[in-house]
Amino acid sequence: MHYWIEGGFPLRGNVKCQGAKNSAVQLLAASLLTRELVILENVPAIEDIVSMIDLLRSLGSQVEFDQKRHRVCIENAGPIHPHIQNPQASALRASLSLVGPLLAREGETSIPFPGGCNIGSRPIDLHLKGFGVLGADALLEHGRIIAKARSLQGKRIYLDYPSVGATANLMMASSLARGETILENAAEEPEIVDLANMLKKMGAKIRGAGTKMLQIRGVQWLKGVRHHVIPDRIEGGTYLVAAAITRGKLSLQDSIPQHLEPLLVKLQEAGATIDVNGNKVKVFVSGRLRAFDIKTMPYPGFPTDLQNQMTILMTLAEGTSLVTETVFENRFLLTSELRKMGADIRTEGHGALITGVDHLTGARVTAPNLRGGASLVLAALSAQGVSEVHDIQHIDRGYEKMEEKLEQVGAKIQRIELKGSKDANP
Ligand code: EPZ
Repeated sequence: MHYWIEGGFPLRGNVKCQGAKNSAVQLLAASLLTRELVILENVPAIEDIVSMIDLLRSLGSQVEFDQKRHRVCIENAGPIHPHIQNPQASALRASLSLVGPLLAREGETSIPFPGGCNIGSRPIDLHLKGFGVLGADALLEHGRIIAKARSLQGKRIYLDYPSVGATANLMMASSLARGETILENAAEEPEIVDLANMLKKMGAKIRGAGTKMLQIRGVQWLKGVRHHVIPDRIEGGTYLVAAAITRGKLSLQDSIPQHLEPLLVKLQEAGATIDVNGNKVKVFVSGRLRAFDIKTMPYPGFPTDLQNQMTILMTLAEGTSLVTETVFENRFLLTSELRKMGADIRTEGHGALITGVDHLTGARVTAPNLRGGASLVLAALSAQGVSEVHDIQHIDRGYEKMEEKLEQVGAKIQRIELKGSKDANP
């Protein structure tokens, strides 16, 4: 399955931001913390959500997903089997966020080692260490995470790194632990705040969400909830960069501009005109952009999930740009594909040096992972001539109706599904 794209058309018009993938997957896991009905609104209709729902169903959850209305209803009133055999779990990093809730609810769980994008080794030591501090036996054995706890006792936990997943997992587990948990050096991402907000509506006692220190006072039980997922700052940011790359004029609707701050500052630095008005962000670019540098950091620093998209922008900017990727060890996988399109990019360890060229040229490229694939689409939208972006199943994991959204604002893009063909490069 691939995209056929004819580049060179400035994107103009409005794009609606979807619900946040990296919040929704954790909110789905959190539904295990109650036996009452959980209703999630503004859930994106993407593969990672479908996969997460399949995992919940394999545990015994009753789940309905109305993809048209972006609504998920989950009931965990019945018995939950806390051991996942489903190999699909190993394809999804978010499956890891089932461990905390299952430990808290059932006192035990085991899941296949969680996978996710090939952007680094994706260790889970901070999760296991945190569960251990709360009194669980948690280890990795024969490729499976195995965790057991007669009861969870609140404690002070220091995270060596502000891991998003570990912060979410430990916040969920300690919500039903005995006593108080202090989580130091916690992640401050908006998705963590969204999860904390839902848990508090369920009756959890959580303070400090969005700061480096979380205080969670365990409670006996949590009630059902209806919760609206926050907008996806990464999906929305991807379309803002697409507008800049094609020198168009795009308005992103239903966003939270504050969550996009690191990106908007960088786009302005490069010479784009940015206009923020309520939940709308408008990007306008007329001439060639200037080179700029980015260094990815935990929130509120520049997000690693928008690094590949900005690298594409740099391939066309005036001058030489530097990218420093500090969060993951392997997030330049799209470099070889960009070179096929004429980009001047050199990578060395955690860094990439990009010298802007006058234009990219259409080519046949293959998506290496979710954000790399979305970024290659952006490159193809700006390139002269026709491109094919293959292995777009990676993109379907995190972007709802990408080709429809792009077509509506002037892109020439088609999804080509050749039955039974070997799609990737031979
Ligand atoms: C979440 O992954 C997101 N995924 C990622 O988005 C995002 O890039 C990442 O946070 C950082 O913002 C989901 O939310 C499903 P981390 P996560 O734990 O939780 C190291 C996308 O494209 N680390 O904050 O796995 C780790 O190796 C995806 O939507 C440990 O060392 O990220 C990495 O270097 C890609 N030990 C750093 O921390 C651990 O136990 C950040 O990882 C855990 C993490």
